[in-house]
This record gives sequence, C-alpha cells and structure tokens, in this order.
Amino acid sequence: MRRPRRNRKSEAIRGMTRETEVLASDLIYPLFLLESPKAEIEVDSMPGIFRLGIDKMLGEIEQMMKLGVKAFDIFPVVDESHKDRVASNSYNPDFFYLKALSRIKMEFPESCIITDVAMDPYSTDGHDGLVENGKILNDESLVILGKMALVQAECGVDMIGPSDMMDARVGYLRDLLDENGYTDTSIISYTAKYASCFYGPFRDALDSAPKSGDKKTYQMDPANRREALLEAGLDFQEGADFLMVKPALAYLDIISDLKSSFDIPVAAYNVSGEYSMIAAASERGWLDRKSAVMEILTSIKRSGADLILTYFAKEFVNYRS
Ligand code: PBG
Repeated sequence: MRRPRRNRKSEAIRGMTRETEVLASDLIYPLFLLESPKAEIEVDSMPGIFRLGIDKMLGEIEQMMKLGVKAFDIFPVVDESHKDRVASNSYNPDFFYLKALSRIKMEFPESCIITDVAMDPYSTDGHDGLVENGKILNDESLVILGKMALVQAECGVDMIGPSDMMDARVGYLRDLLDENGYTDTSIISYTAKYASCFYGPFRDALDSAPKSGDKKTYQMDPANRREALLEAGLDFQEGADFLMVKPALAYLDIISDLKSSFDIPVAAYNVSGEYSMIAAASERGWLDRKSAVMEILTSIKRSGADLILTYFAKEFVNYRS
C-alpha cells in the first residue's frame, strides 16, 4: 500500500523530503529613511518596524549583512514642506535621500541597494504619476520618473524599482539608463502591482496616501489574473531584469503564473498590510508569530517567488541564527 505518511515519520525524513526552504539570500529588506540622521520612529500600524535616520540605517544594514541579508529596498519619508506637484525633490541630487543612497553604497559596496521609482512620496497629490484635473497623466509622468531613475543610478544603486504602473515605463527607463551609460543598473519592475488595501500601513509610514481618488486607473484590479501576463510580457520585452508581484499572499496564483511563463527571476512583495495582520494577531495571542512568519515566507517561495521583499527579514534571520 502506498503510505505517504512514511515520508513524514521523523524530522530527519521531513528534512530530506522538504521541497522548499527560504534562505536569507532570498530576502530583500524594505527600509524607511528619515531625514534626521539619528532619528528612529516606530510606524504605528507596523509595530516593530522603525523609520530610521541615516546613522541608524547604516547600523541596521551592517547588522543584516552579517546575518546574510544583503539586499535593501530604501524608501524616503518626505516632509510635507518638501513635496510639490511635480515631485521635484525626487530628482534633486542634494535631497537627503539621494545623498544617503550614495553614502550607503560607499560604506557597503557589496550590498544590493534598490530604490522605488514613483512620485507618491514626493508629490503633494500622493499619486505615483503626475495629476492634472484629477487624471493621472502617463507619458508626462515618464519624464519625471526618468529624471528620478537617472539620479538614483548616479548614486550607484544596483537596481531601480519602477512601482508606478505607468504604461511603457520599463522600456523608457531602460533606454534612458543605457543612453546615459548606466547599462549595469538593473530594473526590478513592479509588474503585477494590484490596487490593494494592503498598502495602508506603508502609506502611514511614508505619509504618502493619495490626497484624492484612488490608484485604480494605474494599479491592477485584484480580480484579474490573465492581465498580469499581459503586463509581464510587456515588462519582459521592454527589458526588465526581474518581475515583481505585489502584494504576495493574496496573489500566489499570479506569482506561480509568472514563474512558469517567464525565464527571469520573479520577486514577490510581502507588503505592509500583510506584516501588520500577523503583528496584530500575534500581539493578541491569536497566532504564533514565528510559525506564521515561517509558513508565510515558505508559501510565497513555494508558489514560485525567487525573491521576497519582506518586513519580516530581520526576524527571519534572527530565528535562524
Ligand atoms: C509606492 C509604493 C507603495 C508600496 C511600495 N511602493 C504604495 C502604493 O503604491 O500605494 C507599498 C509597499 C507596502 O505596502 O509594503 N508606489
């Protein structure tokens, strides 16, 4: 009789038959940068996650690198007084965020530094593109995203992450980077980025929520699966080095689809709201936090993700060490 339980009878055998194992090198740790160098402020809706000034962030990066996580996605917390309609500080080389990126790359040349290309943290409208009469303009936004990508590349970042969902932006940014000599700067494209409620705590962290309307004219409808293949086909053709699915947990089918259809690495963004759900339930004693984190990260990898952006990166490596 075929008895599948024989392969589960001891931890030793379960270890031998285990199909998926998350490694520290699979993880990308998102970090929120504050302007004040020594500041450290917890995000109310993400208990355990701190926005950090550059001095604190350098320490955090050093510690994570020692534990085997070498990739960081860094987002700026921009004061309202530094925002404007065209997100001009996103391409102002003297802005604290860009200076911090150069410093991080100088101090940790072996790290992989990733940036977000989208207008929302810098824009008074809180949208990823340029707003005119309530509409998000596509091609006009590309020009601003291009300026942003070039200054980020100039800071030496390893990968830029267009998260704006404007049409044709991957090709536009690839050409621009190449024309300016940044042929080695990679593009990790937010390919299938859904208009999700799970970004709420991130928008609290950056104070970047849209001032009016929502993001449904550019981010994807959560009901759509085939459309992700259309987006991925375009990003692939336009030269993306990585395809990303976001959020992760409610979109495991999309991760699986992209993994089986494209021969470039697939990343999944285990987003802020997915962190907060676990944090809140475990604070109440309703879930065992460590088991939940391990199960979730394993399931994201099992579905096909080669890389996982996750706020759990630090506790994951601490559980492991
Ligand atoms: C900005 C951006 C967002 C996230 C990453 N980049 C928010 C949004 O699109 O509204 C969300 C990340 C998270 O929730 O952890 N374009």
